[in-house]
Amino acid sequence: MMPGLFITFEGPEGAGKSTQLARLVEALQGVGIAAVVTREPGGTPFGTRVREVLLDPGLEMHALPEFLLYSASRAQLVQDVIRPALSRGEVVICDRYFDSSLAYQGAGRGLPLPLLRDITQEVTGGLKPDLTLLLDLDPAVGLERAAARGQPDRLERADLAFHQRVRQGFLELARQEPQRFAVLDASQAPEQVAEAVWEAARPHLAGAAPMGGAALKL
Ligand SMILES: Nc1ncnc2c1ncn2[C@@H]1O[C@H](COP(=O)(O)OP(=O)(O)O)[C@@H](O)[C@H]1O
Ligand SMILES: [Mg+2]
Repeated sequence: MMPGLFITFEGPEGAGKSTQLARLVEALQGVGIAAVVTREPGGTPFGTRVREVLLDPGLEMHALPEFLLYSASRAQLVQDVIRPALSRGEVVICDRYFDSSLAYQGAGRGLPLPLLRDITQEVTGGLKPDLTLLLDLDPAVGLERAAARGQPDRLERADLAFHQRVRQGFLELARQEPQRFAVLDASQAPEQVAEAVWEAARPHLAGAAPMGGAALKL
């Protein structure tokens, strides 16, 4: 059984994660690779209900319960979606994963990283992405982009200093694991970012299962 390939997109609000994820899925289809696409929080019926609570602008919550809700959604997603797909040898692409919790609830809200890492280890069973694409962007630019999408959610309403800490948190995580992370300049045009995403992903695709089982030539 092939080990599968696990790719995550990370970065602040409006960095272009969802945009680039969709483009990567298209590019993969172009070389005959079908990907399982999911997101956090969400991705399961349970996680989707948790997502509604987490993004509700009318709710206030403390940092620890917030982290535990993200973790609850994550635990369900890993067990029901991500691990089964990987064990079938599939490519899984996830819009946010545990790095977001380390950046938002750790660097952003000030919860101790060792605690978050311990709980995350239990929640994920130690499952780490093979590749994490960090779309790095000035949060002021990202929030402006996100605002064009419509009413801001609970996280988009947090102040700019919080989002600056989140950005720095992501960059620190990338410094700690340079072999897992690709840090991409998300201020570029979508086409340029998509090219950088493809360049980062391509070396990982050799073992991925193409649709119909044909040999993959890149
Ligand atoms: N490279 C880019 N330059 C300018 N605008 C972008 C870029 N990438 C995405 N956008 C736009 O910014 C908004 C947020 O993008 P999105 O992919 O939803 O970000 P995220 O999922 O990271 O929050 C969307 O309206 C999208 O069309
Ligand atoms: Mg998005």
